[in-house]
Amino acid sequence: MTTTAFSYPPTADDGAPHYRLQRHPDPCSAAERDRALAAPGFGQAFTDHMARTTWTAREGWTDRRVQPYAPLSLDPAAAVLHYGQEIFEGLKAYRHPDGSVWTFRPELNAARFAASARRLALPELTEADFLASIAALVRADVDWVPSTPGSSLYLRPFMFASEAFLGVRSAQVVDYLVIASPSGPYFSAGFAPVDIWVADGQHRAGAGGTGAAKCGGNYAASLLPQQQAAEQGCDQVCFPDAGTNTLLEEIGSMNVLVVTRDGAVHTPELTGTILSGVTRRSVLDLCRDQGRDVHERPLPLAEVIGGLRTGEVTEVFACGTAAVITPIGRLAGTSFDLTVGDRAPGPVTTALYDELTGIQRGSAPDDRGWMFRLA
Ligand code: COI
Repeated sequence: MTTTAFSYPPTADDGAPHYRLQRHPDPCSAAERDRALAAPGFGQAFTDHMARTTWTAREGWTDRRVQPYAPLSLDPAAAVLHYGQEIFEGLKAYRHPDGSVWTFRPELNAARFAASARRLALPELTEADFLASIAALVRADVDWVPSTPGSSLYLRPFMFASEAFLGVRSAQVVDYLVIASPSGPYFSAGFAPVDIWVADGQHRAGAGGTGAAKCGGNYAASLLPQQQAAEQGCDQVCFPDAGTNTLLEEIGSMNVLVVTRDGAVHTPELTGTILSGVTRRSVLDLCRDQGRDVHERPLPLAEVIGGLRTGEVTEVFACGTAAVITPIGRLAGTSFDLTVGDRAPGPVTTALYDELTGIQRGSAPDDRGWMFRLA
């Protein structure tokens, strides 16, 4: 953690920005909430409150509050609706066995959010403000943090151009919000192999573009290829690089990693077109601590196909906050259709999943100080 005095338990004078609580006058009943928490799915139910602050070029960030969750009232000319000036983040709050609530390496999300803001010409939010906003929301809605295995409260901070103006320039009025959604596994089958379609000639991002930023536009561009992947019986699409169309870059909402027979882990290097995933970075840290060789490098599709055919590639998996660690059981494209191993999650993927989720859920020691207490 770098810049903030923010701490748990909170104190009145810790210097953290204060989000005043305006309680929902008519929150969900305990019975309704329990129903939502029983089998939450992903991103379908939302808690009683949302955190919010507004920025203007004249006054900076003002009016920090946690207010009742409700639809937004937006001018039809709001710039985000026309030019897509928007960024977001994803992180999770986990309930530990003793009832306390924690999140995972939020300073990395705060730093990435600030970097995304710079790329999209949006105002930056400090790390202290980012942490204060998620903590204030989670404390207001702490009863919404599920305790069932594999579930968590997914937190979605986002920022967008709310100024009503049709000229193409960076907005002078911007809104930042955090919403929260009790969530189970991103893929309904949980920790089970998914099938990946490798796009051919369709790209997520190009050099100098917004690929490293977490902005809605990158995800919008992935939707048609994702639909086409579904038509091929696949769960997700993997994009090759825009420069050569030969290197694996990123799966729609996850980073991709390959394990070779010698136990080494290989993943596309961060070139500016790939999202710098918090889970990616943590998985690579765990691999290095396990003594594995880690190679962040260009990853040719032809090499992965060849390795799957010869058995040199033993496991392929994907990772992300929402998807955690997800084994890949099949890699297919216009000219190949290959099973990874025997389709079952491999030992390296499984061990990494167990170690990472153990730390996040409080059943394994957090030797690296990755967990941050919220409540
Ligand atoms: C996350 O893993 O948190 C993401 O942002 C992926 C999301 C688009 C579902």
